[in-house]
Order: sequence, then structure tokens, then C-alpha cells
Amino acid sequence: MPEATRLRRLDTALAWAQQQGLPRLEAQMLLLHTLGRSPHDRAWLLAHDGESLSAAAWDSFERLCQRRLAGEPVAYLTGHKAFYGLDLQINAQVLDPRPDTETLVDWALDVMKAQARPSIVDLGTGSGAIALALKAQRPDSSITAVDASPQALQVARHNAQRLNLPITLHQGNWLEGLAGRFDLIASNPPYIAEDDPHLAALQHEPRMALASGPDGLDAIRSIITQAPAHLHPGGWLLLEHGYAQAPTVCQLLQVAGFTQVHSRSDLAGHARCSGGCFAQPPERQATPCPDAAGLPNAPDGTRT
Ligand SMILES: C[S@@+](CC[C@H](N)C(=O)[O-])C[C@H]1O[C@@H](n2cnc3c(N)ncnc32)[C@H](O)[C@@H]1O
Repeated sequence: MPEATRLRRLDTALAWAQQQGLPRLEAQMLLLHTLGRSPHDRAWLLAHDGESLSAAAWDSFERLCQRRLAGEPVAYLTGHKAFYGLDLQINAQVLDPRPDTETLVDWALDVMKAQARPSIVDLGTGSGAIALALKAQRPDSSITAVDASPQALQVARHNAQRLNLPITLHQGNWLEGLAGRFDLIASNPPYIAEDDPHLAALQHEPRMALASGPDGLDAIRSIITQAPAHLHPGGWLLLEHGYAQAPTVCQLLQVAGFTQVHSRSDLAGHARCSGGCFAQPPERQATPCPDAAGLPNAPDGTRT
């Protein structure tokens, strides 16, 4: 085997990427993308790691690795992200959907379990991740997906069409201008404080998907204020938020008249989502909310 070809073997490419600092899984994803193969073909890579890359493929793999090392999410480089079993197409106009957000989807499915034909709105839909996951799991639901960004809505529309999951798309500022009431409002809004140093590492993602005011809670406050006028009696509002924000978000929900207020933890055990039910005034009965002492002592509340 000529030396140049031997040096361009798939296993050599993976080893090189890892030496540069890429985790093995990311290197595999980028190599599969370079080869035009599915991200599910990792077993194929193992079985064929002695095969060679063309010079052009090696160059393109190297460029992808350099971009990843400079902080671009893998999903922006490959154009795809798996979320709740769906293959979503992603670009830099939308947040790269996080596995932690599946906690919010699980919770939404739980609260809607007994509800036939639920009406659901996903606020700040981005790629459509939450809205489309819910529609896939509950085909009987009617789902509205809202975003302020027309570019994000274009990505969500494209995903809805590709996946053949009919949802209604709406451009707007949270619930403003939406007619009618819903059984469930779900949202993963921006929740990072504008001066949070972690934002520096997230420079490739749209700022309006990440930051929200001095304490990160501007969007959550707006949604909680608007929600009661848009929920059926007994309807639920479920919100994703930062790891340290649960006590404040629960308090905001209780002050706004929500009951059964509590939080759910993400895959790392951080209180990542909080929500409550909006009952009629006589049925209101506040339930305790986790306090700061009950929160896990996580080092990092960002979406990293
Ligand atoms: C954290 S991203 C969530 C994206 C997606 N739901 C997910 O979980 O991957 C927040 C989204 O909220 C949208 N957004 C920001 N401000 C908004 C507003 N005032 N009204 C509606 N959507 C807004 C952003 O464009 C962004 O798509």
C-alpha cells in the first residue's frame, strides 16, 4: 500500500482527530458525515476502519474537525440532530436541540396522557424539536409552534414537512396574537443571563435562542404572565430553565396562580424543568416548590 494511502486509513483519521482533542464519538460522527453515511453507521466504521479516505475526503474531514475544535456544534456541521427518535435537520439559525430537553417532552406526554385530542403550543420552537416530538407521540393532538425568528420557523416548517408531522406554525412574541386556549403550553425559552461567561463558548448559536435579560429570566417571566389567559382550566405550563433557576421559576408560577407547581430533573440530575397547572381560583392549592437548599450543586447551568 502506498504510504500516502496507508496514512489516510479511516482508523488513522479517527486517531488523528482524537489527538487534536475531539471526543471519539464526535470524530466518528464527522467521519461518517464526510463519507456520506448515516450517523447510525458507527458499527460500519469499526468493521471498515482499514479502508482508505480519498485525499479530498481527508481534507474535508480535517476542515470539519477544525471547525468543531473552534466550537461549532456537531449538528451544525452535519446538518442533523436526533431528538426524541426524530432525525431533525438543523442549521445555525436554530438552537442545536439538547438531550436534556427530552425531559420536557416526557413531562408533557405524562400530563396529557388522560387528555383526548390535546391542544398544545410550543413557544420558541426553533427546529421544531418539542412540537414535532409531541406530534409524533400524540398524533391526535393539535400543535401550534411559535417562534419570533422567521429563519427558525423555516427550519421547523422544513422538518415538519420532511417528517410528515402536521403542525401549525406562527411567528410572534410568545403567546401574543394567538387566539384561543390550550391544554398545554410547553417552552424551552432562552434562559441564560446576558453577562453569563458561558455565553462566550456558545458563539455559533443564535443569541436570541440563548440569552434573556440580566438574570436570564425575562422570557420566562413574559411567558408566565401571558399563560393564564391562554390555558383552559386545568391546563399546564411546563418550562425548561437553567439548573439554578428552579426555585425562582416555581415562585413565579405560584405567584401567577399556578398549582401543583414542581420541577423535574434532567439526565444529569439537575432540576431542569418546572411547571404547574392553572386551575380555577377556588381549586387553587399551592404545593411546595424545591428551595435552593434542595438543589443539586451543579457547576454549570448553561446548555453546554
Ligand atoms: C432555547 S431555543 C429553543 C429551541 C427549541 N425549542 C429547542 O428546544 O431546541 C429558544 C427559542 O426561542 C425563540 N425566541 C426568542 N425570543 C422569542 C420571543 N420573544 N417569542 C418567541 N420566540 C422567541 C428563539 O428564536 C429560539 O428558537
